[in-house]
Parts: sequence; C-alpha cells; structure tokens
Amino acid sequence: MPDYDAIYQDARKQLQRRLTQWRLLHSISVSDIAALMANVYDVDVNQARIAGLLHDWDKNYSDAELLKRAKRFDIKLPENPLETAALLHAQTGAHAVAQKYPELPRSVIQAIERHTSAAPDMSNLDMIIYVADMIEPLRSQSSLQPLRSIAGHVPLEELFVKCFQATMEHLIRRHRFIHPDSLMVWNNYLAKERKERTQKTVK
Ligand SMILES: [Fe+2]
Ligand SMILES: [Fe+2]
Repeated sequence: MPDYDAIYQDARKQLQRRLTQWRLLHSISVSDIAALMANVYDVDVNQARIAGLLHDWDKNYSDAELLKRAKRFDIKLPENPLETAALLHAQTGAHAVAQKYPELPRSVIQAIERHTSAAPDMSNLDMIIYVADMIEPLRSQSSLQPLRSIAGHVPLEELFVKCFQATMEHLIRRHRFIHPDSLMVWNNYLAKERKERTQKTVK
C-alpha cells in the first residue's frame, strides 16, 4: 500500500507552489469532504483524501498551456477544443500526478481525470471526488445548499446525478459550451434511471 500520509504531506508542499492560495485551500477542503463522504459511502478513505487533495494539480495553467500539455500527454481532444480547454486540467493533471506519484493506484488517477466532464461509468470514488469538488464549504453559491443537505443521506449515485444536473443547468444558464462527453454522461445516466424504473414497474 502506498504511504498515503507521506504523499499527502509532499503534495501539500508541491501544491503551495502550483496553486493560488484560494485553490490550495479549496483542494484541502475537497480532500476533507471527500474523506468524510468516503466514510459514509464505504469507499477507501485514504484514496478519497489524496484524490481530493490532488484533483486540481494542473488548475493554474492557462488554456493555451493546457492544450500544449494535452498534446504532450497524447490526450484526445474533442471538437472545438478551445471551448472546453479549461476542463483539460483534469486529464493533464491526472497524467502529471501519475508521473509524480507512480505508487498511487489507478483508481485515484481516474478520479482526478474524471472530475470535470465525468464519465458514463463513474466508480464510487470518481463520484465522491466530483461531488466533493462541488459542495465543499469554501464555495459560496447558495444554490449548493440543497445538494450539501442531501449529501450522506441519499445513495451516492443519486447525489452525483443531482450535482451533475446542477452543473449542466449552470452551463446552459450562462450560455456556455457543454463538453460532448458530458452530454453522453447525462444521456447514459437518464437511460439507466429509465431502465431501473421500468424494471421496478414490471416487478
Ligand atoms: Fe478542477
Ligand atoms: Fe476543484
């Protein structure tokens, strides 16, 4: 097992140089909330804590730098890559973290990779990092309150889908581009919900 405490301490020092003060505090806050959620939803607490801390490893790069890094890491870009370049920090960050801390399990790297546009088959750890990133207490939007109040009280997937929906609604309200992967994720979870509802009705 990796020495999670040693990685956590080293990463905090690295992040002090890589991120702004607010972003560092946000990362620590995501880490704390992710660890609490992991406890409630029966997920590995060490993995949640470290993935939360490391999730924004590449956040301070400009869009142009992220596009360059994506090329370097051989990351497949969507159509209109400029419109969603900011989301790339998740994927480039995951590659960079895997290089920096090769002892970390793939599940941690994947959770970092999926924290912006998500994926159709999110693991419990992926969902925890996605949700913790959104509901951590340093974010001040009042619209997050209903999501915070159900965290830990509803099944994890239900919580994730509600957070994902809130993100999509936010993007549309602000007239922002939606990453094609996110549309696929949304349709996939809707189809899954429909299927589960039909199965219940048939029973
Ligand atoms: Fe992020
Ligand atoms: Fe974040």
